Amino acid sequence: MVSEKVLKELNDQVGREIFSSYLYLSMASYFDSVDLPGFATWMKVQAKEELGHAMRIYNFIYDRGGKVELPGFEKPRCEWESPLEVFENAYEHEKFVTNNIYSILEIAKQEKDYATEEFLQWFVKEQVEEELQVDVIVKRLQKLGDSAAGMYMLDKELGKRKDD
Ligand code: FEO
Repeated sequence: MVSEKVLKELNDQVGREIFSSYLYLSMASYFDSVDLPGFATWMKVQAKEELGHAMRIYNFIYDRGGKVELPGFEKPRCEWESPLEVFENAYEHEKFVTNNIYSILEIAKQEKDYATEEFLQWFVKEQVEEELQVDVIVKRLQKLGDSAAGMYMLDKELGKRKDD
């Protein structure tokens, strides 16, 4: 059984993961609107992955005898100046998610909730990957600058991303 405190944190995290999915879908929509279908595909895959993260926590809450209560969330941002700005935003968002995971982990430790502590280790590792993959794209976009040919190539490459 999870404590009320940990349960509240896990429920909030379900909401944040769903919001992440919503935000990445909004980013996909931006890319579709500026005719970068490969970038849009990449974001749509990411949006699905975030729903998977939410469901992982959802299922854990029930495995531990809790009840999922979904929080509300705000409208996601829908306009950006450039692909670089989108990925910089995604990177900041992933750092925010990482900090949330660390803070839930800290609370689980204080509550001596060893099962949640162990469960969250998957997310600790996943966040390292999530931050890295976005940061790599930020750096590539920085190098590309205004190169239309470079952007075309990167769009083709990102469009190959498949669901995990
Ligand atoms: Fe579920 Fe991208 O963090």
